[in-house]
Amino acid sequence: MIPPSAADLADHRRALAGTPLVGLFARDPQRFERLSFAWDDWLVDVSKERLGAETLPLIAAHARSLGLEGWIAALFAGEKVNLSERRSALHTALRQQGDAPLNVDGRDIVPQIREAQARMKTLVGALRAGKRRGATGRPIRAVVNLGIGGSDLGPRFVCDALASPADATALHTAFVSNIDPEHLTRALAPLDPATTLFVVTSKTFTTQETLANGAAAKAWLAAAFGPRVSPGPHFVAVTGNAAASRAFGVGDDDTLPLWEWVGGRYSLWSAAGLTIAVQLGWAEYGELLAGAAAMDAHFRTVPLERNLPAVLGFVGWWNARHLGHPDRVVVPYAQALELLPSFLQQLVLESNGKRVTRDGAQVDGPTTAALWGATGSNSQHAFFQWLHQGTREAPVEFIVPVRASHPRAQQQALLVANAFAQSQALLEGRSAEAVRAELSRQGVAGADLEAAVAARVCPGNRASTTLLLPELNARRLGQLIALYEHRTFVESVLFGINPFDQYGVELGKSLAAPIAAALIDGAPLPAMTDASTRGLIAHVRALSS
Ligand code: F6P
Repeated sequence: MIPPSAADLADHRRALAGTPLVGLFARDPQRFERLSFAWDDWLVDVSKERLGAETLPLIAAHARSLGLEGWIAALFAGEKVNLSERRSALHTALRQQGDAPLNVDGRDIVPQIREAQARMKTLVGALRAGKRRGATGRPIRAVVNLGIGGSDLGPRFVCDALASPADATALHTAFVSNIDPEHLTRALAPLDPATTLFVVTSKTFTTQETLANGAAAKAWLAAAFGPRVSPGPHFVAVTGNAAASRAFGVGDDDTLPLWEWVGGRYSLWSAAGLTIAVQLGWAEYGELLAGAAAMDAHFRTVPLERNLPAVLGFVGWWNARHLGHPDRVVVPYAQALELLPSFLQQLVLESNGKRVTRDGAQVDGPTTAALWGATGSNSQHAFFQWLHQGTREAPVEFIVPVRASHPRAQQQALLVANAFAQSQALLEGRSAEAVRAELSRQGVAGADLEAAVAARVCPGNRASTTLLLPELNARRLGQLIALYEHRTFVESVLFGINPFDQYGVELGKSLAAPIAAALIDGAPLPAMTDASTRGLIAHVRALSS
């Protein structure tokens, strides 16, 4: 196929625009079969998206013309796909099954991955067997991860998703990320300093929130043990900056590596996932990695037209760039996936929330949509009103594990039914005629009936994707996360941007330092500081004095 130009794609969008989604189904009886994609008991249905028969092939041809297949190969080969920072993005190496060599700067990184994993395994075994002891000689029973962003969201999401309510012998795990002192205070309230281990997770070991919580954790231990007892046995660090963790007081034996070629938001596959392994045990942790590796193999080898991350990326790009949707709503119908939307917010928005291309030019259209969401069925009783009857369309992704982890009567079938009903309602809506007929059946008539119609009409014609996974366990969760990582990468290639840097978060960090100095010590503010910020600081100082 001759690659379509941007104008061809715009023409295609205009040609589709006149036909409602139900019309696209009416026109093509094979639409579901054509636009749903199966892999390893997964089913990804994009037939309710605003796509014609030609849309995905056109986007695939466009993606090929942008070199998507070459970008995928470069990602896995460890080429420096993070151009602005001149780094590889080798999260896939961390879950590689087998020891095939993988060179970064001429050096095989697989042996160092295996060495770090062996150290993790020893530590996890000791912790789970009650053999790691604190300063008073008592075994560690609680592990608290101190980290933020990628050093928190991924591990926290996985631990929450795979929590096993029945495992009474498991260690207690907790995550503290916020610099708000309330976060640490609440996490520590049920814990005993003598049996608590802190995992300070920070690739840079310079992140203000994590260092502040680390210092507060030390103070908590010192308050319990007195100044003469070393808190050393209560700390492990995961970092790329061993000198800083040493200065903080963590011994080299207790410092696990986090390499430059692992992006923060992809780091759950590294030692940053230590808390996951502590909670799951080594074998289950291996399943998580193996699941992700299976999705990696699929992404690497299956043609774009049937490749799940590619298809989802094509739809995401089409919705954002060509259909101009500013929102993307993620609704997992699984309580265990409650933290998926916030995990994806960092993965997707820190990766693709950019406005310049890889070579620094302004992008020529919108990049990623804002991503938000919450679990179904809860969110049906919150923002689904807006989705069904608000003034603009927001494409929804329904993520539905088919089998329950802990079945109770027919509740799983009810859950799945709710998901399907919502996507059907978004598609079909409810017409004025249908509302009239229903009201008539209820005995409403005349002016009362007419007055009641408008508020009850649902316009429908609103797009959604449904992802069915067979069940939720460590392997499937690994697949799900890798699916979203790769889909985000596909979209970045279509947008022409670098998904692996995040310079946008730096400015606020640097401005916080002089403001903190002004709040704490009354230090003068830089001359450029605006009147609003000065006024806010003055108000806080007046209240604090
Ligand atoms: O939010 C910005 C960020 O740099 C993320 O990319 C990263 O995951 C997070 O901060 C934490 O960084 P670190 O692991 O270095 O503490």
